[in-house]
Amino acid sequence: MDQPTYFNNYIILIFILMILHVTYASVYDYQSFLQLPGIGSSIHEQPRKGNIFHVHAYGAIGDGLHDDTEAFRNAWKMACSLSLHSSILIPEGYTYLVHPIDFAGCRSKITLRINGAIIAPKDPHYWRGLNHRKWLYFHSVEHLTLEGGGTINGMGEEWWARSCKINTTIPCHHAPTAITFHKCTGLNVKDISIVNSQQTHMSFTDCLGVIVSNVTLSTPAESPNTDGIHISASTNVEVRDSTINAGDDCVSIVSNSSRVMVTNIVCGPGTHGISIGSLGKWNEWSEVHDVMVDGAYLSNTQNGVRVKTWQGGSGFATKIIFKNVWMENVTNPILVDQYYCDAPDPCQNQTANVNVNDISFVGIKGTSASEEAIRFACSDTIPCQQLYLEDIQLLTYTGVATSFCWNAYGSSSGIVFPPPCFLTTVSLAVQNTLSASHNSI
Ligand SMILES: *[C@@H]1O[C@H](CO)[C@@H](O)[C@H](O)[C@H]1NC(C)=O
Ligand SMILES: *[C@@H]1O[C@H](CO)[C@@H](O)[C@H](O)[C@H]1NC(C)=O
Ligand SMILES: *[C@@H]1O[C@H](CO)[C@@H](O)[C@H](O)[C@H]1NC(C)=O
Ligand SMILES: *[C@@H]1O[C@H](CO)[C@@H](O)[C@H](O)[C@H]1NC(C)=O
Ligand SMILES: *[C@@H]1O[C@H](CO)[C@@H](O)[C@H](O)[C@H]1NC(C)=O
Repeated sequence: MDQPTYFNNYIILIFILMILHVTYASVYDYQSFLQLPGIGSSIHEQPRKGNIFHVHAYGAIGDGLHDDTEAFRNAWKMACSLSLHSSILIPEGYTYLVHPIDFAGCRSKITLRINGAIIAPKDPHYWRGLNHRKWLYFHSVEHLTLEGGGTINGMGEEWWARSCKINTTIPCHHAPTAITFHKCTGLNVKDISIVNSQQTHMSFTDCLGVIVSNVTLSTPAESPNTDGIHISASTNVEVRDSTINAGDDCVSIVSNSSRVMVTNIVCGPGTHGISIGSLGKWNEWSEVHDVMVDGAYLSNTQNGVRVKTWQGGSGFATKIIFKNVWMENVTNPILVDQYYCDAPDPCQNQTANVNVNDISFVGIKGTSASEEAIRFACSDTIPCQQLYLEDIQLLTYTGVATSFCWNAYGSSSGIVFPPPCFLTTVSLAVQNTLSASHNSI
């Protein structure tokens, strides 16, 4: 088999996928799905000259050695004190050392134009007495834009070395998320890169109306828990046209999030793929619904598209669609795992679990690194319902691809390979004619 040709074919396919997608996007209006709040004005409106706050005017040096935290803090305070739209400029050609910092409570429209580099202190001791989960922390912000083509470097090496997943003699503790957004409305993050994040690259909690586009997140595959984009308790979120290489999930959508759209994502080696969950840890209630992942290319990842829930949780994951996903050598391309357990000791089975239903997988193609290309491991007490497979073509390098079902109910249509193994595999046509009578179940 000619490997380079195979690889080239995949690259061509992903481009075709992207071109098709652009056409699709211009024909159909995602607003109906997402209903993003009016953040258009903050995207296009150019700030007037007088409203640009240059970090050097606030004492930043940008030599990578001097602590520029105070300058950033003061520039933010000034920009926030105006009710007009203002920009904070972080110029190209400089490297700013910034310690853990809060960018808080700003109600005016702000654009943070990051053209230069922002680096974190290398040594975790700078977090002593501070919250270990945060480095660049934005909260209670409305109409904030981050843009500019610059790089944010978490300098995470020392944090990874001190992770309990790397050195098992050390107790587990949190490492900072490079950029945290908490309680936000109308957020636009574009064109920036985040490298060597200490833990998660970018997280959104309690946010309404977020667009993330054209970002590059890159951290070695061996770095522990380095999720790309983590979306929690947020609504109306769109993530598109981005490349993610990290040590954990490329995109994870958790606790009480809804109306999330993920399109055109390239998710690279070592990562854990695109995930709903984990949900229901520590017996929590969690509900995730109306999620669409449309257009992704995953290569050499541990998982492809998955839903993961812990035993003992409650709530539901429903109305989730994964479509047009190309896989290359992915270990678990399609996965629903209701026995998820990311803990040192095995997790006990419990009667409660998060209810998983109405999950569709459409147009998932490519190669699986393991023979079991499809796995639906559903709860003993709350089976998965309304799983749906269509146009699935997953091959393995060795042997024949298989699917595994445990307590999984669903249907399929079109070509599905490996063949589905649902407890009641009925054709869609039959399903549709029966749906009226099934509604009461
Ligand atoms: C693991 O951590 C312990 C305790 O901090 C330390 O003594 C040891 O050198 C570390 N091991 C490695 C391989 O870094
Ligand atoms: C994406 O971001 C890069 C900077 O990281 C920029 O050079 C490029 O023009 C952007 N692409 C688009 C389509 O905006
Ligand atoms: C989800 O929201 C419910 C209330 O609506 C809350 O009780 C629960 O703690 C939330 N779950 C998580 C994981 O945040
Ligand atoms: C597929 O991935 C596995 C590791 O998951 C690796 O050992 C193997 O070499 C890869 N195969 C190809 C053809 O890339
Ligand atoms: C939990 O239940 C599953 C499915 O019935 C079974 O395969 C697994 O061994 C059980 N795990 C434990 C820890 O009992």
